[in-house]
Amino acid sequence: MSPMPHPVALPPVRLRPIGPFDLEIVAALHAGSFEDAWTVGAIAEILAMPGAFGLIVEIEGESGPEPAGFVLVRRVAEECEILSLGVRPQHRRGGIARALVRRASDLAVRGGAGRIFLEVAEDNLPALCLYRDLGFGEVGRRPGYYRRPAGAGAVAALVMRRSLPRRSALADHEPVGDG
Ligand SMILES: CC(C)(COP(=O)(O)OP(=O)(O)OC[C@H]1O[C@@H](n2cnc3c(N)ncnc32)[C@H](O)[C@@H]1OP(=O)(O)O)[C@@H](O)C(=O)NCCC(=O)NCCS
Repeated sequence: MSPMPHPVALPPVRLRPIGPFDLEIVAALHAGSFEDAWTVGAIAEILAMPGAFGLIVEIEGESGPEPAGFVLVRRVAEECEILSLGVRPQHRRGGIARALVRRASDLAVRGGAGRIFLEVAEDNLPALCLYRDLGFGEVGRRPGYYRRPAGAGAVAALVMRRSLPRRSALADHEPVGDG
């Protein structure tokens, strides 16, 4: 991935690290994007793991900043994994997920990562389109990985990965906290 700006095609937007006071907000965002909602405690545990970090996007609403999307990531040595990513339905297709993945990738590079990967249900067309658009390629498939509601069976996970640019390719002045 080349170093790029982080455009978000929405009105005033802030992209910042998830902090300890954001856990309920992130849990609500997660519940709005996934059937198996993660608890505040589970999200706190993830963020407490070595190398884990999260980013949140807020957009300016009528009564102040509104949370619109999040990403949870973990870097272990040269590998970085996107653990979860979600955007509120009413804010989708505005470039928020793209901005989150790009920023998370840049931060992972700064931490020493050379690759980023994730698992995605093979029937999740929006996510597959997003990751392909961002240059991820399929490197594996786990049959029956995601259980669907009763009677709907299970669906395979695709493992997708992409290489990250070298740290020296990133702009030194790039802000980390927002954008
Ligand atoms: C997948 C998801 C995160 C995308 O968020 P988003 O903010 O709407 O995505 P973006 O606006 O940044 O989209 C970037 C690109 O991804 C692709 N894309 C995103 N949503 C798409 C859709 N519904 N159909 C086709 N392509 C899509 C497009 O290439 C898009 O670029 P374009 O809008 O210029 O055509 C969002 O749909 C979501 O939260 N889904 C539920 C949770 C989920 O599935 N998370 C991923 C789990 S691995």
